[in-house]
Amino acid sequence: MQINVGTEQSPLMVSRIGFGCWPIAGVTTLGTTWKDSCDTLQRAHDLGINFFDTAYCYGFAGEADRLLRESLGGSAAYEEIVIATKVGMHYTSDQQRIIDGRPETLRREIDHALERLGRQQVDVLYLHLPDPKVPIEQSAEVIAEAVKTGKARFAGVSNVDAQQLQQFRSVCEPTVLQLPHNMLQTDNTQLLSSARSGGIATAVYWVLMKGLLAGKMPRDHQLAEGDRRREYDIYNGDAWHQAQDLLDLLRTLAADLSVTVAQLVVAWTLARNEVSVCLCGAKRPEQIEETSAALELVLTPEVISAIDGKLVELGQPLS
Ligand SMILES: NC(=O)c1ccc[n+]([C@@H]2O[C@H](COP(=O)([O-])OP(=O)(O)OC[C@H]3O[C@@H](n4cnc5c(N)ncnc54)[C@H](OP(=O)(O)O)[C@@H]3O)[C@@H](O)[C@H]2O)c1
Repeated sequence: MQINVGTEQSPLMVSRIGFGCWPIAGVTTLGTTWKDSCDTLQRAHDLGINFFDTAYCYGFAGEADRLLRESLGGSAAYEEIVIATKVGMHYTSDQQRIIDGRPETLRREIDHALERLGRQQVDVLYLHLPDPKVPIEQSAEVIAEAVKTGKARFAGVSNVDAQQLQQFRSVCEPTVLQLPHNMLQTDNTQLLSSARSGGIATAVYWVLMKGLLAGKMPRDHQLAEGDRRREYDIYNGDAWHQAQDLLDLLRTLAADLSVTVAQLVVAWTLARNEVSVCLCGAKRPEQIEETSAALELVLTPEVISAIDGKLVELGQPLS
């Protein structure tokens, strides 16, 4: 089943699971290899995923874009897949991450991304995040201009609050809003819901909370030295134990349904009204095989209410 992330007049139909290209970029994810990444992209495509989410800063030197072009380029499939990219953040030569939403920078990044992707046009072009030094309207104008000149089919915006979304919309109408959203981080529920009721599609990220909600890390799991997830609050202290309390329930429910925890988590997220598309990252083919099977999983109201009940107990807003 596909969903429209374009407009009514000009639909852009995508799979409800989009492939997240951050892990394959190899910036924070350990153990990525070029071959595994190419195979994973290819597998995602073979599994029916047609929506690929990249960004100017996915890789110190555009690795995610280059991988997309290498694995899927040169075939008719490459023209047919839906590529969404984001501008407004880049790495310096000494690997410092910089937020830069100035119009001249955004224009340069758009042209550079098209060159790396080997495309005349991307399907969705997002402002990656607002630059606190630049009025968001100025950045939004460049996204609108890219749509007007045909470098992008549709506009998107990511990592904004309600006010910033309104300011963005005053100069550029996005068809997609991208925000973090998962069972343990539901703070964006209201903003996502109101975007959807206003005709904007939503693409949510960190559905698996970078692997934690795949349920394969037991309570006493130690993340490897150098794993950047060690720095996330949710991988530490009370938050870790709360996550494990939720995972205990999810493990039982998943076993009863003969599915995996990752599949249960993605299926629950897909069932939420505020969600159009779940962006799922993967670095190996078997990971995307597992997560994409959630597309076939329809949860009963009883399973959903068992999960929702636990989330309410944990203080997660669900509306
Ligand atoms: N707009 C933004 O600012 C923004 C920010 C973040 C992400 N995004 C987008 O959203 C996408 C999703 O976020 P994400 O990739 O950071 O996180 P994610 O989808 O929550 O988690 C991906 C990670 O989970 C683990 N994993 C995936 N499938 C698994 C499976 N079946 N079993 C066990 N582990 C599995 C892998 O990590 P390990 O194998 O290393 O454990 C993988 O790298 C990104 O790729 C990107 O496209 C956008």
